[in-house]
Amino acid sequence: MRLTVTAKEGGSIKADALVLFISTKELKKEAAKLLKNLGADQGALKDFKASAGDIAMAYREASGKSASRLILAGIGDGDKPELFRKAAQAVTSKAVDLKIGTLAFDCSASAQWAKQSKSTADELAAILAGAAQYGAYRFERLKSGKLDKKKGESKSKEIRELAFASLGDELAAIKSGANAGMIVGECQNAARDLVNLPGNHLSAEELAAAAVEAGKRGGFEVTVFDKAKITELQMGGLLAVNKGSQQPPTFTVMDYKPEGKAKKTVALVGKGVTFDSGGISLKPAQGMEEMKSDMGGAACVIEAVEAAARLELPVRVIGVVPATDNMPSGSAQKPGDVITTMSGITVEVGNTDAEGRLILADALAYAKKEYDPDVMIDLATLTGACIVALGYPVAGFFSNDDALAEQLFKSGQASGEKVWQFPLWGEYAEMIKSDVADVHNTGGRGAGAITAAKFLEKFIDGHKHWAHVDIAGPAFPAKGGSKVSGATGFGVRLLVELLKGLS
Ligand code: BES
Ligand code: MN
Ligand code: ZN
Repeated sequence: MRLTVTAKEGGSIKADALVLFISTKELKKEAAKLLKNLGADQGALKDFKASAGDIAMAYREASGKSASRLILAGIGDGDKPELFRKAAQAVTSKAVDLKIGTLAFDCSASAQWAKQSKSTADELAAILAGAAQYGAYRFERLKSGKLDKKKGESKSKEIRELAFASLGDELAAIKSGANAGMIVGECQNAARDLVNLPGNHLSAEELAAAAVEAGKRGGFEVTVFDKAKITELQMGGLLAVNKGSQQPPTFTVMDYKPEGKAKKTVALVGKGVTFDSGGISLKPAQGMEEMKSDMGGAACVIEAVEAAARLELPVRVIGVVPATDNMPSGSAQKPGDVITTMSGITVEVGNTDAEGRLILADALAYAKKEYDPDVMIDLATLTGACIVALGYPVAGFFSNDDALAEQLFKSGQASGEKVWQFPLWGEYAEMIKSDVADVHNTGGRGAGAITAAKFLEKFIDGHKHWAHVDIAGPAFPAKGGSKVSGATGFGVRLLVELLKGLS
């Protein structure tokens, strides 16, 4: 989707459709006037409520120099940036359904929007552009179209061009905001692609290759460790999970260094389990296919580093992705096994399905040891327990640093990717004691998301500014939510927001 920003009146823009954002307040008088001025029929207003996400179509005779289709997009009271996100997302989703190739947003009221939503024209444009990308996303690369009557009929047409139109003074702000929003939207959609790819299309090596590609787009360094190097580094957690696999593990390190002096170094660690069968502690068949999404943390980390680089944020960002699938076989690790992780800490593997924490143990230890970052954050589709607690829309998080916790929470509110904090109290460490090793990889009944976090905490080597985000719910929400299948790319916007705050 190409972006253009033009000093024009929306009504005179050449596009397949012109989008008019309308608040509930404007619906009474102004909307009718607007349609009249544009020469469109008023019928669209009959069933249009203007709540955020509401869409109505209106039509007019147009000369070919302007849009004949008008899309009315509700923004509710228009008093929160979130409402604009919802509106833009609904608009482009509809536009893709209608096979619209070029779309224009009438942003003539953007100064007013900024005021009423207590934000800036710049921020709102970023939100609109990012949400436009998000709503236009479809995952169709595995459809051949061979069975369609007309060739490729099942595939959506992509929106080629998105124009932001305004005659106001804030055009420069709109332009820089929209540009940034497009980058974040593209990165988030790239993360969704990775998460949507099934196990046979995304191995650990392919996930590493995706990081290398992201590095080329963002202009940052990417190093991939193969199994030999991983063995040399004695990454016992990653190797143990990989034991049952036919495919080698990878360990990928991304390093984005800004021009000039970086204000901080932030390490992002993402769980990259390309498919989680549970291993010998095999999962039930029902829903197992969703475990192709068990590298949601990795996808988010890769794409957050890419976004940081393309936005040229003044922080150094290290991305660390341990990757493997988790499979049962004669060579797989067994319940009861005791393994030695890279840090030397031994783990009793009571349940081979608690594999994410084993590979993160090595990745956290590696990030701390190699980079001693100012801030260290891991993201992982780690526990079903977190979904039980918070459901699908919200991620759980943990931190040993109250200031970082507050920044994360606020970034969640600002980005719309909400996170809610759980405690790391000492009582929970009791639950992961082992009789035979330093620590046990499961905590028994209750508090499953917390005992997982307490496990990870053992491997940060006393780092003082660490957070763990459990994205098991929002990375790949259960069916019924959005009609576009599967992955959300949850965490990319959250991390970009956080990194902006740290810089
Ligand atoms: N990848 C799963 C967690 C998960 C569950 C993510 C559902 C997304 C949706 C993780 O590896 C896992 O299996 N966790 C176990 C831990 C248990 C064995 C202690 C779980 O949550 O049941
Ligand atoms: Mn598992
Ligand atoms: Zn898992």
